[in-house]
Amino acid sequence: MSAADEDAHLLDSDEQLGEAGVDASLRPTRLEEFVGQDRVRRQLELVLAAARQRGQAADHVLLSGPPGLGKTTLAAIVAAEVGAAFRATSGPAIERPGDLAAILTGLEPGDVLFVDEVHRLPRTVEEVLYPAMEDYQLDIVVGKGPGARSIRLDLPRFTLVGATTRTGLIAAPLRDRFGFSAQLEHYETVHLEAIIRRSASLLGVDIDAEGATEIASRSRGTPRIANRLLRRVRDLAEVEGDGRIGVDIAREALAVFDVDDLGLDRLDRRVLEALIDRFDGGPVGLGTLATTVSEEPDTVEDAVEPFLLRCGLIQRTPRGRVATAGAYRHLGRTVPPPGRTDHASLFDTADPDTPHPGAD
Ligand SMILES: Nc1ncnc2c1ncn2[C@@H]1O[C@H](COP(=O)(O)OP(=O)(O)OP(=O)(O)O)[C@@H](O)[C@H]1O
Ligand SMILES: [Mg+2]
Repeated sequence: MSAADEDAHLLDSDEQLGEAGVDASLRPTRLEEFVGQDRVRRQLELVLAAARQRGQAADHVLLSGPPGLGKTTLAAIVAAEVGAAFRATSGPAIERPGDLAAILTGLEPGDVLFVDEVHRLPRTVEEVLYPAMEDYQLDIVVGKGPGARSIRLDLPRFTLVGATTRTGLIAAPLRDRFGFSAQLEHYETVHLEAIIRRSASLLGVDIDAEGATEIASRSRGTPRIANRLLRRVRDLAEVEGDGRIGVDIAREALAVFDVDDLGLDRLDRRVLEALIDRFDGGPVGLGTLATTVSEEPDTVEDAVEPFLLRCGLIQRTPRGRVATAGAYRHLGRTVPPPGRTDHASLFDTADPDTPHPGAD
């Protein structure tokens, strides 16, 4: 394989960012089109404006947060805002230090190198990355055995944008080399509504305010899910209606696709059901819970738990995950009396007058 081919294999092209074409077409390309995450947007605006003013590559940026909140989107925006090329790869794709060297030596000054799943970089690769990030230098070993020697190459100044669903898994020396680090949070319903209206207009779909609110409130705080639900609702609107999306069409479609009033999908509900019906509300370890629903622990931890925690349906305790009274109510189960479970304290503190997720 030629060096160029190897590069092409390690670097995804812009069009192949791993999602369907439609999704890519809905991606905001500039910071001003990026909805919500106001604090992060403001901070990034400053970092990028300063870099532009100095005519230098921006500081390295670390973006973390659950799937579908806009990490890849923001990474591409960083490149667009400073007028630089966007080169994308991922932690698991860079298997050896040589792979990283091939990528880094191919960069032009100012380029933005996006490393998705940066927590999955092999340790040996990470060590080569440290001096590259800090001093724009690359130490590589050429040759083998007694004749091997280390040479140092100067690299162009570039901006590394790392994305991770798990800040906790990033080694401290790596984390410290990012000049700016942002944690993306789940979106508020108003922001999801704005994203849905923007996507609808890009897709040429007519949607009213109530329709947008209905979809937004069931999108689990996640733009990717909002866009996906919008497309499913549009399917029903086109096939069974006149193509326009109002609240009735939205409700009907969401029922067809098994999205409940909190936005929980089948997997979310299966996790809750397992917790309550199989393990008596817990505590149960992540691995056991994941096996019970036939999923990878990573999927449950990254894509299911954060939202269930945010809704107050589960809690994490040192001994494992437990279902809260809200979870029992959401699934229409009788809430066990205090003292019956070994995490009774969660129930004792539940205030019966406080509205809870899933209550009618
Ligand atoms: N703030 C936003 N405004 C508008 N659309 C957004 C926003 N954030 C994300 N999106 C949309 O959601 C989709 C998913 O975003 P993106 O791929 O950037 O998420 P991610 O955080 O990289 O997810 P993953 O962890 O799975 O890689 C994008 O296609 C984009 O259209
Ligand atoms: Mg991504």
